[in-house]
Amino acid sequence: MVRSVISQVNPISRFSRSGGKLSPGSVPIDRIIAATGTPLYVYDADLMRHQYNKLVKALPRSFTICYSMKANPNPAVAKIFRKLGAGAEIASKSELEAALLSGFKPRDIIYAGPGKTEDELKDAMRSRIGVINVESETELERISKLSRRINKNRKRAKTKIALRVNPDFTSGNKGEVMIGGSRKFGIDSETIEPLILKTMADPGLDLAGFHFYAGTGLLEAKTLIQAYKAFVRWMKKTSVRLKLDVGVINFGGGLGIPYADGENELDIKAVGAALKKITANLAKSPGFKKTGFILEPGRYLAGPSGVYISEVTDIKRSRGTLYVITNGGINHSLIPIVLNRNYPTAILNKMNRRKKIECVVAGPLCASPDQFSRKVKLPKPEIGDLLGVFNSGAYGLTASMLEFLSHPTPAEVLTDQGRAYLIRESRKPEFGGFKRLKI
Ligand SMILES: Cc1ncc(COP(=O)(O)O)c(C=O)c1O
Repeated sequence: MVRSVISQVNPISRFSRSGGKLSPGSVPIDRIIAATGTPLYVYDADLMRHQYNKLVKALPRSFTICYSMKANPNPAVAKIFRKLGAGAEIASKSELEAALLSGFKPRDIIYAGPGKTEDELKDAMRSRIGVINVESETELERISKLSRRINKNRKRAKTKIALRVNPDFTSGNKGEVMIGGSRKFGIDSETIEPLILKTMADPGLDLAGFHFYAGTGLLEAKTLIQAYKAFVRWMKKTSVRLKLDVGVINFGGGLGIPYADGENELDIKAVGAALKKITANLAKSPGFKKTGFILEPGRYLAGPSGVYISEVTDIKRSRGTLYVITNGGINHSLIPIVLNRNYPTAILNKMNRRKKIECVVAGPLCASPDQFSRKVKLPKPEIGDLLGVFNSGAYGLTASMLEFLSHPTPAEVLTDQGRAYLIRESRKPEFGGFKRLKI
């Protein structure tokens, strides 16, 4: 019998299981593995839909959600959010390609991130994406010049931009904070006013609005809300001083998901309720009568849907510690080490057994950090067991060091209501190449 549970708390219990085995999207895991081998990533479409719908329910209607492609750029994944009504946030030329492949309309795509190359900017402008978020004065100048050149013979002769603001406050949260102080991100708030005026006077540019991104992996509603409030205070003052009509405020992403034991879920209802109040108050001020709002989360939408699966290849004890060695490691799943968290871990073919044995789960790489779970409790492990690292749907494959030690890359599988789809094949590394450069 297949049991499907969607719990608010335990990322493992969100997945269905059958006869003591994981059964993502009601597809028995051993059937998937028989078709693909290990290691692999499996994402469950219903869990993505669940996260998206939870967020939509919490947010005021004036908000558009743009899925941040960097979390998981696989077009089959992005397509799920697109079909639910999301736009896309991209940060590279290839992510633009992935977003277009996923079926996002160019006007629903936002381009953010520092150091965009001329080639990337040209591509974005030629594709007529919705907005380019500007990170520096020099980037603004480059976009202005390019815009005049590219849009010379076009009807819509202006490039829509938003200015990314690095405010003079920070948000003291446990996640990775990306505002305040000296940053490579955004334009310092105390130097931005001349650039706002310059943009408004530029015949090649259309100032769509402002972008702000507090950080990533933020788990406390209070900290996010304080950051939103502080940003809106700054926005109001700036709009009064410069007599601005603000088209869009993009509040960024950063909504966290709990990884380790003891971390609580982000209170998304509290975040949504606060945004409702903040934006309703803002709408009373001149300059914000027609303002639209954006959130651009990645981790929150895709993270809980994914499990990274490897196979136990060895078990050893060293001076009292039990090591469970698998055929997958930080070459495929780096972020648990970067964040220094034990992601939720389980033996997928022993889901009904009690967890009694403390072990270190390590990969096959010749590098000591290649241990994605330290001191986790598992049922008695055996060679051939399937080891699952949960909450791996975001910043998994895409944020890893895939060719380290030249193992093949893991396959990616999407499950959706009883069906499984191979959405990226495992690939061997390519060696060689010896071509004289014509220089
Ligand atoms: C500009 C921007 N938007 C959105 C995101 C997505 O963040 P998250 O996955 O934490 O929601 C990031 C992540 O770094 C980002 O830099």
